[in-house]
Amino acid sequence: MRIDTDQPVRLADYQPTAFAIDTVHLIFRLEADRTEVTAVLKVHARDARDAGPPLVLDGDGLKLKRVSLDGAVLDPADYTATPDMLSIHTIPDRPFELAIETTLDPESNTKLMGLYRSNGTWCTQCEAEGFRCITYFLDRPDVLSVYTVRIEAPAALAPVLLSNGNLAEDGLLEDGRHYAVWHDPWPKPCYLFALVAGDLAAVKDSFTTRSGKAVELGIYVEHGNEDRVAYAMDALKRSMRWDEEVFGLEYDLDVFNIVAVSDFNMGAMENKGLNIFNDKYVLASPDVATDQDYAGIEGVIAHEYFHNWTGNRITCRDWFQLCLKEGLTVFRDQEFSSDMRSRPVKRIADVRTLRSQQFPEDGGPLAHPVRPEVYKEINNFYTATVYEKGAEVIRMLKTLIGDDAFKAGMDLYFKRHDGDAATIEDFIVCFAETSGRDLSGFSRWYSQAGTPTVEVTEHYDAAARRYRLTFVQTVPPTPGQAVKAPAVIPVRFGLVGSNGADMGYDSASGAEVRGDVVVLTEKHHEVVFEGVAEKPVPSLFRQFSAPVKPQIAMPPSDLTFLMRHDRDAFNRWQSASTLAMTMLIAGSHTARNGGDPQVDGSYLDALCDTVGDNRLDPAFRALMLAIPGENDVAREIGENVDPDAIAIAHRAVKAALGSRLAPVLEAALAEAGNTGPYSPDAANAGRRSLVNASIDLLAATGRAEALQRAADHYAGASNMTDRVAALSTLVHRNAPGAEAALNTFIERYGDVPLVVDKWLSIQATAPSPATLDRVKALTEHPLFSFGNPNRTRALVWSFANMNPTQFARPDGEGFLFVAVAVRLLDDRNPQVAARLMTSFRSWRSYEPGRRTRAEAALKRIAEKASLSRDVSDILERTLA
Ligand code: TRP
Ligand code: ZN
Repeated sequence: MRIDTDQPVRLADYQPTAFAIDTVHLIFRLEADRTEVTAVLKVHARDARDAGPPLVLDGDGLKLKRVSLDGAVLDPADYTATPDMLSIHTIPDRPFELAIETTLDPESNTKLMGLYRSNGTWCTQCEAEGFRCITYFLDRPDVLSVYTVRIEAPAALAPVLLSNGNLAEDGLLEDGRHYAVWHDPWPKPCYLFALVAGDLAAVKDSFTTRSGKAVELGIYVEHGNEDRVAYAMDALKRSMRWDEEVFGLEYDLDVFNIVAVSDFNMGAMENKGLNIFNDKYVLASPDVATDQDYAGIEGVIAHEYFHNWTGNRITCRDWFQLCLKEGLTVFRDQEFSSDMRSRPVKRIADVRTLRSQQFPEDGGPLAHPVRPEVYKEINNFYTATVYEKGAEVIRMLKTLIGDDAFKAGMDLYFKRHDGDAATIEDFIVCFAETSGRDLSGFSRWYSQAGTPTVEVTEHYDAAARRYRLTFVQTVPPTPGQAVKAPAVIPVRFGLVGSNGADMGYDSASGAEVRGDVVVLTEKHHEVVFEGVAEKPVPSLFRQFSAPVKPQIAMPPSDLTFLMRHDRDAFNRWQSASTLAMTMLIAGSHTARNGGDPQVDGSYLDALCDTVGDNRLDPAFRALMLAIPGENDVAREIGENVDPDAIAIAHRAVKAALGSRLAPVLEAALAEAGNTGPYSPDAANAGRRSLVNASIDLLAATGRAEALQRAADHYAGASNMTDRVAALSTLVHRNAPGAEAALNTFIERYGDVPLVVDKWLSIQATAPSPATLDRVKALTEHPLFSFGNPNRTRALVWSFANMNPTQFARPDGEGFLFVAVAVRLLDDRNPQVAARLMTSFRSWRSYEPGRRTRAEAALKRIAEKASLSRDVSDILERTLA
């Protein structure tokens, strides 16, 4: 393993730069085999007294051609240049102009950071520290400059030339070359710089802001994909309108462009006025995209657009503040999707994501606070904790201070910090002011890692008409944080009476109660309600009001009661999940000891009643059918995990559901079965999710006619949603016809890479001992490439994260396969390699046999002669 000599970066060490860069003029001369970049920086010392020290700029693998100061070429004695740093020794004590010329090789850039080529298109990715792969710079988010960018390129190779801001000028040059000049009037950090040049098709539209400003909208895609951008364009316009209506925020340039590229490390990037997207989050038509794809596009288009204010107009002082833009922007995109679709359905989906992605992170060796205090590699902190838990913290803040103070606090934040590189403290103080509350306790959500548990017990005194809830919270220790202070936890609640309606009470004492929210601030709280007419059933953490693990001592009959009656849809679903989880855990232990898992009849009865209630939203009924996944069960069990035992229990519960609910599922199919002409809207998609969940559960019984029904559904599918749902049911049940279906699928869609990904994932997640060999074979398939992050995620990441029994094969071969893939990817694309490595984050919770195998696989990675900082950082923390 590489000896790690890199010093970690610490929040506590923050210092502003001695120099500011006021303007940046960039000239890119793009050629087929190399690119020349000239960067002209106007620099001044922030404080005249600081004019003395040398100016040290960041680089990453750069080749310097020439550097001049105020027009005079510098002698090599005047500076030190390495690929990773440029230090100018003597600096004049007045503002000066530095011109730096570098030569790049975008063609061979496989890391997909800085300037690279994707299917022939030149494009950039600068967040977090990619700008330093283009030129030497103060590559940190608190250095804000006004950019002017001139791009020169062969007109035939790159008829389209784009950068941030507004187009200032374009024209022809000699030798078939042409140029464009873009100017962005808004000062920005370099991570928001972007350039795109290529032969792309443009789809144009326009949007008029509420103050009457016309904005030209463009979505750029590879030729042939023009007919797959309509949904993204519509989502963009809806996002722009929504941000005006809900947050009062308008767009601020003449153009807003989006470019879809097929090689991209993440989902998308919010570069000012020029968002660059993984094409997965742009391209859709009913024949190639699923309902889930459409929802993803809507959410990511909104997310990147919303960054224009939360991220771009107000950016981050340093990368420790990443959640300032990411958590807040996720919160905003979640709210947008809730308004566009069904709020409870969106909430349930978001909570499932939080539990499956963030909870294991928070409970394992990679746990870190929403605002970390130290990092070795910032790329490894684009995590579920920063994004998803970061959004939960904003949501709790709103719950805690109320809608009005929250709205006023957001307004104040935009007014006070527009144009700033801000911190979490700057943000929080706005809400402290508008709410008049002391938010210092609440702020611990930013500094303490770990998912709190909240134990709740109840007591009812009929004679005194008094009802008491006792809450005890525990924040578990996490790496580097042995001892925790109590968290401030808003518990949204209702006391449900025997008629199913929420009951009133005369008074509440103990913890603070504001409306329907109890605010826990201490380790231990007792809330006493007076004047409670009968013993209520408590409905706690409604809407999942805090990212905690509630442990509520409650009889199963209370949970089935809430499944049927709670007016909070989230808790109806949660009650069903809690019951299913209890059975799955018990069933796993039974299976481990060779017994048969049992399923509780009253749970099945209550499920029949809810799923059979056709006054309820079909999408919600489909979610009621989705029992916790095998990984969820493993996480709850927490130690000595045996994925095979969990899989047996999981199959048993699904089979019991399939047979017991059969009449209800048949009725649902009859009711929702004909979903009519395809539309990606929530109502139409919801009916499909109920149909597909029903078909899958019926097939879980293994009955021949149920498997035949899935085969018919596949053959008769008229959209990609039904087609992949049916295909996955067939393949995962190893049904007759599964192989033939896989073949017809790839014959038909082999030329659509985003659909190839679905084909790869379905095979990678089949719970069969034959899967590993198949996955290995697929890595050699002509349609697969380790060079493309989407293909790699579809095959290898899916195998490692969504196939618990085969990744954790008892012989360790699944672990080894992923370890070898990490080693291979490490040289090519460290970011993707490091992300794949996080699949091992829960390795210590396996039973001893698998734990030993997982450790051996991790050591295989550690043995590699040289490891990227990305992978070695994750590896060190995983093994620590
Ligand atoms: N800021 C991007 C977002 O919207 C995240 C991102 C895109 C990113 N590409 C990246 C982060 C590359 C690190 C590296 O969330
Ligand atoms: Zn973001």
